[in-house]
Amino acid sequence: MTDDIVVLRDVKKSFGEQEVLKGINLVARRNETTVIIGGSGAGKTTLLRHIVALEQPTSGEILIDGENIVGLSERELNRVRKKFGMVYQYAALLDSCTVMDNIAFPLVEHTKLSTKEIRDRVMEKLKILGLDPGVEKKFPSELSGGMRKRVGLARALMLEPPILVYDEPTSGLDPPTSRMVDDLIEEMRVRFHVTSVVISHDIASCFRIAHQAILLIRGQVVASGTPDELVRGDNEEAREFIKKSGVDVSDVSRVAAEMPSRLGK
Ligand SMILES: Nc1ncnc2c1ncn2[C@@H]1O[C@H](COP(=O)(O)OP(=O)(O)OP(=O)(O)O)[C@@H](O)[C@H]1O
Ligand SMILES: [Mg+2]
Repeated sequence: MTDDIVVLRDVKKSFGEQEVLKGINLVARRNETTVIIGGSGAGKTTLLRHIVALEQPTSGEILIDGENIVGLSERELNRVRKKFGMVYQYAALLDSCTVMDNIAFPLVEHTKLSTKEIRDRVMEKLKILGLDPGVEKKFPSELSGGMRKRVGLARALMLEPPILVYDEPTSGLDPPTSRMVDDLIEEMRVRFHVTSVVISHDIASCFRIAHQAILLIRGQVVASGTPDELVRGDNEEAREFIKKSGVDVSDVSRVAAEMPSRLGK
């Protein structure tokens, strides 16, 4: 088992004339939280779609758990996709379905479990995520933003993937709810031993949860390291990007547990 669970080597992607990813190199380590930050249009979502095998690069290598997934058949890519739980911006729940049906969806699609087994597993996940019994009968429109996030997370966890991927998990949420989502991301990591890859505009969130922060600007990784290394380091673009956010990072409490294996390295 490799510690480097997600590895990108010189990944390039063009859509027509436009080169969106310009030779990305990055490593996400197992059981850590890697946060990819960067401005609008930098290529963050495109990068994430490559990691979860929804998009193939124009060139380069993408290794998931040691396996190069570039050039795999659709059938093999489907196997790789099951290693990821996706938590989308605004939770992306189906409005016309109950919470139960939303969360049950991956099990209905990908397993042959009975209705009763599926129901039991959904109820178990609701409980783990601190959602009260009874919520399964509600529709997404009847839930608060924070509750919708938990439901989206419950759905992402249904197939017990080793990697959880979040695209802008705190966008559109008020600051207290954003901090709650940060805590939830860290709790999921610790509790289910998952690796988290998070895309974010939210610098406070990045400082709270990241073991590693990666700054993407115009399709290139311009800096990577712990958030504190980025803010104190000699990379001017990184310092500038963090400063521009207006967040006083000395004020932000860090919730991500230190990774003992990396201390002293
Ligand atoms: N399927 C596609 N076809 C053509 N162009 C695309 C496609 N997907 C993304 N792009 C282009 O790639 C660029 C980067 O988009 P992307 O969504 O990855 O940025 P982002 O960093 O996630 O931005 P945001 O912070 O606004 O979500 C944009 O110019 C976008 O138009
Ligand atoms: Mg995006």
